[in-house]
Amino acid sequence: MAGARHAKADTLALRLRLLSSSCRLFFPEAPVKIVRGQGQYLYDEQGAEYIDCINNVAHVGHCHPLVVQAAHEQNQVLNTNSRYLHDNIVDYAQRLSKTLPEKLCVFYFLNSGSEANDLALRLARQYTGHQDVVVLEHAYHGHLSSLIDISPYKFQHLDGQKEWVHVAPLPDTYRGPYREDHPDPAVAYANEVKRVVSSAREKGRKIAAFFAESLPSVGGQIIPPAGYFSHVAQHIRRAGGLFVADEIQVGFGRVGKHFWAFQLQGEDFIPDIVTMGKSIGNGHPVACVATTQAVSRAFESTGVEYFNTFGGSPVSCAVGLAVLDVLEKEQLQAHASYVGSFLMELLQQQKEKHPIIGDVRGVGLFIGVDLVKDESTRTPATEEADYLVSRLKENCILLSTDGPGRNILKFKPPMCFNRDNARHVVAMLDAILTDMEEKLRSCETLRLQA
Ligand SMILES: Cc1ncc(COP(=O)(O)O)c(C=O)c1O
Repeated sequence: MAGARHAKADTLALRLRLLSSSCRLFFPEAPVKIVRGQGQYLYDEQGAEYIDCINNVAHVGHCHPLVVQAAHEQNQVLNTNSRYLHDNIVDYAQRLSKTLPEKLCVFYFLNSGSEANDLALRLARQYTGHQDVVVLEHAYHGHLSSLIDISPYKFQHLDGQKEWVHVAPLPDTYRGPYREDHPDPAVAYANEVKRVVSSAREKGRKIAAFFAESLPSVGGQIIPPAGYFSHVAQHIRRAGGLFVADEIQVGFGRVGKHFWAFQLQGEDFIPDIVTMGKSIGNGHPVACVATTQAVSRAFESTGVEYFNTFGGSPVSCAVGLAVLDVLEKEQLQAHASYVGSFLMELLQQQKEKHPIIGDVRGVGLFIGVDLVKDESTRTPATEEADYLVSRLKENCILLSTDGPGRNILKFKPPMCFNRDNARHVVAMLDAILTDMEEKLRSCETLRLQA
């Protein structure tokens, strides 16, 4: 049943009583009740319209009619597991294969990004016969036990780093050890991975895989320097491991120039495994792992069946196919390039105006605005970011700083986000920052007068 059945206060009270507080709300002090979504907009129970700059799951837009229709039509005919022959699953695999390098030609279908990364881990371990994993600082790869173990963002608050997990520095040219003035940050950061791998091997550890988001989003909307992944892949493969590109947040045309974010790293780079989720089902639980024949054959050689009750169902694949159709028909990849560049330009202008904006980085509709207390120290302006996000929400703009670096505004809107939306969001950002600066100045004057 759609819409609101309870008054907002009652919904909140029921939620607090019945759901674990580990399941957090956005804006916990003043949560928003959303009852409807369309395109890049969300609507609350009073009919207020919010621009959604957060939701990279509703990739082609909330409730896109063609996606909804595809699910509905297939639901009326058949939805069962993938043990029967069905055209949807093979058509979907074929369509996905056309977007990927030829080598990545075997597909597994699942229901969530976590399932995809967990399977990637199993594939890598089976193929290599090794157990260990190298990950990047602050990474998050999913909520299953196996993935919490390879997610520094989570495990640092739990039982800590397991002996089979090795953490390399984020290739962050704004805050990391090798910055924008370094002559070759790609090689310098890849050498850090080499160092981590060597030190693990000296302890007798054997590397099964390197996992990284192709653009570390959880880690702070980081754009790894081009060439970094190729160098990392060399070090990892030399140690017998595989390269897993987590495209769960960043794939499917979001970066504009390419369909996959790993392609930003150069033509010569091909991961051994690509994991997809979130956006590929536009809100329906669809996920996928793509890998090579060799990796897949090693997995098959155990003789153990891979069975997933819902993964690759006719409905999920119909939804997946419809998302690809919409991306093509509405040319959303090119749109992401065009609107993303415009948004970057507007944000760069704000950087010139407001010293709190330390860095604006991004590609396509994947953009980060790094707020700093001081330009020279680059100290994160976390409280200011919290304040800004809550003021934007009061002005019906939903933006998030989720992740370990809570000073980074993360723009990952649905791909139909347009230039008018960009203008409006940036004008509001400008107004709030100007107001914050005025308030700070008058506090300063009062302090000096006292
Ligand atoms: C980069 C990345 N990988 C994996 C996952 C896990 O996906 P899911 O929540 O669909 O299991 C997430 C979820 O936020 C993610 O951001």
